[in-house]
Amino acid sequence: MHAVSLRCEHRDDIPCVDDRAPRLSWALESDDDGRRQTAYRLLVAERSEDLAAERGTLWDSGRVASAETVDVAYAGRPLPAGAEIAWSVQVWDDEETPSGWSEPARFRTGPATWTAEWIARDRTHDPAMPVPGTDPDLDPTDFLMRRLPPSPYFRRAFRVDRQVERAVLYATARGVYEFEFNGDRVGDSVLAPGWTDYDRRIEYAAYDVTAHLRDGDNVLGAIVGDGWYCGFVGMNPRRPGNHYGTEPQLLAELHLEHADGTRTVIATDRRWEAARGPLVYSDLLMGERYDGRRELGAWSEPGADRAGWHPVVAEPLDDTLLVPERSQPMRVTEEIRPVSVTEREPGVHVFDLGQNMVGWVRLHVEGERGTRVQLRFAEMLQPDGSLYLENLRSARALDTYVLRGGGPEVFEPRFTFHGFRFVEVTGLPAEPSLDTITGRVVHSDTPRTGWFECSDQMVNRLVRNIEWGQRGNFVSVPTDCPQRDERLGWLADAQVFLPTASLNMDVQAFIRKWGDDVLDGQLPSGAYPDVAPVIAFRREGAPAWADAGIITPWVMWRRYGDRRLVERHWDAMERYMDHLARHNPDLLWTARRGNDYGDWLSVGEHTPRDVLATAYWAYDAQLMAHMARALDLPERAEHYERLRAGIVAAWNRAYVGEDVYIEGDTQTVYLLALHMDLIPHELRARAAERLVENIERHDGHLTTGFVGVGLLCPVLSEAGHSDVAHRLLRKDTFPSWGYSIRHGATTIWERWDGWTEDAGFQTPMMNSFNHYSLGSVGQWLYEYVAGIRAAEPGYRRVVIAPEPGELAWARATYKSVRGPITSDWRRTEDGFRLEVEIPPNVTATVVVPGGETVEVGPGRHAFTSAGSRPEPSAHGGAEEG
Ligand code: BGC
Repeated sequence: MHAVSLRCEHRDDIPCVDDRAPRLSWALESDDDGRRQTAYRLLVAERSEDLAAERGTLWDSGRVASAETVDVAYAGRPLPAGAEIAWSVQVWDDEETPSGWSEPARFRTGPATWTAEWIARDRTHDPAMPVPGTDPDLDPTDFLMRRLPPSPYFRRAFRVDRQVERAVLYATARGVYEFEFNGDRVGDSVLAPGWTDYDRRIEYAAYDVTAHLRDGDNVLGAIVGDGWYCGFVGMNPRRPGNHYGTEPQLLAELHLEHADGTRTVIATDRRWEAARGPLVYSDLLMGERYDGRRELGAWSEPGADRAGWHPVVAEPLDDTLLVPERSQPMRVTEEIRPVSVTEREPGVHVFDLGQNMVGWVRLHVEGERGTRVQLRFAEMLQPDGSLYLENLRSARALDTYVLRGGGPEVFEPRFTFHGFRFVEVTGLPAEPSLDTITGRVVHSDTPRTGWFECSDQMVNRLVRNIEWGQRGNFVSVPTDCPQRDERLGWLADAQVFLPTASLNMDVQAFIRKWGDDVLDGQLPSGAYPDVAPVIAFRREGAPAWADAGIITPWVMWRRYGDRRLVERHWDAMERYMDHLARHNPDLLWTARRGNDYGDWLSVGEHTPRDVLATAYWAYDAQLMAHMARALDLPERAEHYERLRAGIVAAWNRAYVGEDVYIEGDTQTVYLLALHMDLIPHELRARAAERLVENIERHDGHLTTGFVGVGLLCPVLSEAGHSDVAHRLLRKDTFPSWGYSIRHGATTIWERWDGWTEDAGFQTPMMNSFNHYSLGSVGQWLYEYVAGIRAAEPGYRRVVIAPEPGELAWARATYKSVRGPITSDWRRTEDGFRLEVEIPPNVTATVVVPGGETVEVGPGRHAFTSAGSRPEPSAHGGAEEG
């Protein structure tokens, strides 16, 4: 047995951290079944040679008798600033056999203090805005050329005359940046530093650029786009004061560590220069315009032409927090080749990528200098084959490339992104092929942790649609949609989807970052906002939206055992609970409900907002009591248990009638009652019956919106109605997950009726085809169909209890913080076979359908039973085909 997958602060790459006690984690791998860790030893050093020599110059934990492998807090000497730290771990198994040392892992620390200044282009050097018709380059059809400023190019030339051991660039921007060092691109992250509330917090990243450094002359250069800082964001027009700033700025320090231990820092200041280049404008919503005729040659290389470069303006740092990038950066993670291209009319080609994706396209073109090629993006086509652009609302999503001429050219935008499946290209000099464009998939590069497959192809497509929805909307923040003029960190969307998202991918670092955005967005009243990062309008969030402030730390704790996140959010959560209590003395949440969205986009039923709001308040109190116990705050736990009891009593008095009739009588009111444990135990079965009866009344269809949908199948299974859940899963008539798939969906639609045979497209004012909220059923596929559930935070103990329904087989693997857990079952001639795999240090209760329940330890285990024909629920009615 040995340690693998070493992670620091939940990152398996080389994170930069500012924690005094960063958390170190590893997983265990063993060829023998049943192995357990009984002890570990950690070594941390600045130089890998020290590590190799088993010298923990920063920390040597010694042999620690413990089975712990997750979030072991660093406890060595204070970590040096601006350093690269190496660490390794040795483990002992239950036969006291020590393993070898793990592969070393590394993390960095940021500068102790920053000496750099924020630099920007000095607009006084800008040539006057060209008057239409006077500048041959001015494209009269592109009004943005007159509205949006060009993206500035910055550079700094310097000499290196002493040996350098390591060169590390610490960089960020008010805007989005891309660095070049002596002509080479630095790193592979895109749209960095991502989106935070720039008035409060800005993330920086660290890049080892030693390989790019030269003896003698060097040039460090950067391009900065408007990004979320001063570009169009959300639905609001772009004007000063609307969001964060008006002028993109750069901040960077290049630290050169010399052999003699001294350090030279090349920081952004007045010695940098700036120029306008080929990036005529760049905007996340509007698109990008690149004019190849305006290229600056080898601008980021020593000896480049100086014409057109001017001194920059610089301003000192203010009190905005500079923090290291918490989450994995955004990257191009995949390429998609078009599946077809059609010429809709002469010179207008529509490419189908076959998958609704998020990112941009790379264009390959050759033609006359000055030829203008335009690319438009859409998720769907109109009946006549033209792009369906209306649902983008004011997001123009149009990229323009003006050819420099003289041979083959490649254009790829930098500082915009689009949500699309179809690309309309006009102005191509020659007949295109499927290689003319390539889809470049962009998202926060959160490692995959979940794999689910089963015998039903429509369900497998649903799983892929959910995953693509997550990829497309985990772009620096968890957004509602990636295509229209919104793309906001809506809190309810994130909280209902998080249980699914955290199975599909390791989102621990990503959500830690977003958690800080939520904290930054909390209002002085204690209320949480509707969206985070907040933009111009900071308003109190609605029930189910604001409650993400409580639910997110809870889900992260359950999924990853992340106690420190609960600690980090505790005071803010208490402020929120005080806010609710202060304004709702009758223990019914009737006041301060913000925009009160209710069960957003439910279909055919309307869940009373009072019922929903107070249900969430009671749930918050329940989660606060649990988290208070986890933080060893018994008094606070008792306080919240009492509060909860009061709210539950008030809720039952106000909304629960005869025979467990709950006001509204919608599917969601029974889901809230059962999931949030709001009714006495003896009434639960009747409430579940009422839920099933409601589904029957809707001809076996769901009616739930964003709030109810994620609870639907888990609650049905918990109440013994997995058969009903399976029938909902495999429906393909409206409304259902299958309906959109039958009509070609490759992501999750915002609305059940985004497009219907009867009505065609829903209102374009709100009709995204890439919203993950209705995809929150993914959790049920892992936790009930495959049956992999955590019995303790962080999967120290698990339950494997598949609910097969009518499926012939299903298998899933979830790579938990303690290692991969697999459930693989199939119906056989003689009944049922279940194979499970449990990582070292983890124990499991296995409930074999139609068979036994057994406790097992780490290793591979197989079980058979006579099989489990699903018992139709009391209200099962006739078996559907
Ligand atoms: C967003 C949703 C959000 C909702 C709240 C919509 O515009 O797309 O994701 O939850 O507003 O009303």
